[in-house]
Amino acid sequence: MSALSSVASTATKPLPQGAPSPLVKRLGILPMPNLEWTPEIERETAHIYARVQHVIPSVEWPFHAPYIAAINRLKKERNAVILAHNYQTPEIFHGVADIVGDSLQLARKATEVDADIIVQCGVHFMAETSKLLNPEKTILIPDTRAGCSLAASITGADVRLLKQRYPGVPVVTYVNSSADVKAETDVCCTSSNAVQIVESLGVDRVIFLPDEYLGQYVATQTKVKLILWKGHCEVHERFTGEELRAYREADPTIEIIAHPECPPDVLAEADFTGSTAHMIDWVKTGQHKRVLMVTECSMASNVAAEVPEVDFIRPCNLCPHMKRITLPKILDSLVYLRDEVIVDPAIAQKARASVERMIALGR
Ligand code: 13P
Ligand code: SF4
Repeated sequence: MSALSSVASTATKPLPQGAPSPLVKRLGILPMPNLEWTPEIERETAHIYARVQHVIPSVEWPFHAPYIAAINRLKKERNAVILAHNYQTPEIFHGVADIVGDSLQLARKATEVDADIIVQCGVHFMAETSKLLNPEKTILIPDTRAGCSLAASITGADVRLLKQRYPGVPVVTYVNSSADVKAETDVCCTSSNAVQIVESLGVDRVIFLPDEYLGQYVATQTKVKLILWKGHCEVHERFTGEELRAYREADPTIEIIAHPECPPDVLAEADFTGSTAHMIDWVKTGQHKRVLMVTECSMASNVAAEVPEVDFIRPCNLCPHMKRITLPKILDSLVYLRDEVIVDPAIAQKARASVERMIALGR
């Protein structure tokens, strides 16, 4: 066995101790696959490496490829699909994901999945949303600690207090929130459809939760008055208008595109503002040479793999929660069936209604 393969094969966690979960009792644990880097694995994954060669150095491939091959085989054995957000690393996004996209695309696709198991490669609120939309399916998240500063900024009790303070004002909540908060919500939104959802209610005032900056951006696009909460994305709030001006001064030809979770002074410097999916469309459908992508770092790598002719400048801010999801943990998820995402049925019923209303409005 080579040094590389012995590192790779010891990277997964040992068998969990204690009583097996009902899911494990029903479906059983599978044997851990061999994770050696072999000529067969190299051949089996060559077509995937061809896609990511611009963003993953060849010296790293022997670490990823045995996991990718094993995960793709286990998906079939488990009748599982992998849903991955645009912020997942390229080896996950291009290597093992069946469905990729922004929060709205993932929520929509989650309703169409024909598999017994969904492995959610993203953060916990995304896995919860998949569970809400697929109550009969098994939803696994490879690391339950993959949270979100926006989701953590507000509780269901906070929303109940706001509703007491503003009686009769409808609540629109960004999907970056817990099921508990969604259960107190009239309709959810994502950064792709926030303006459309706010306007669809036909009222002059809404409570918009929990992202203050997304809310401020939406307020620039509509006449509806928004009552905001002071939640922020810990990744996008780190960007500053000043740093973007410095990039522009160094190269006036660059185009700046930014996610609406960024503060207003950052969006003021942007040539285009949109959700992750809208940014990807913008890059792919235009004639762009140098693009400064103001969002989580992995996204530019994922897009760069597909459009190598565009030069991406990345003021690199990583989401520590998204980065908790790794190939070894995905493999563990499929082998040991962990960790299952469960939503209290009483909360799930109300939370599901607010997500389904959003999906219905988009149709
Ligand atoms: P979208 O992919 O929906 O734009 O969301 C970005 C984000 O921060 C998800 O956590
Ligand atoms: Fe939450 Fe921001 Fe990370 Fe998205 S990038 S999961 S909004 S902390």
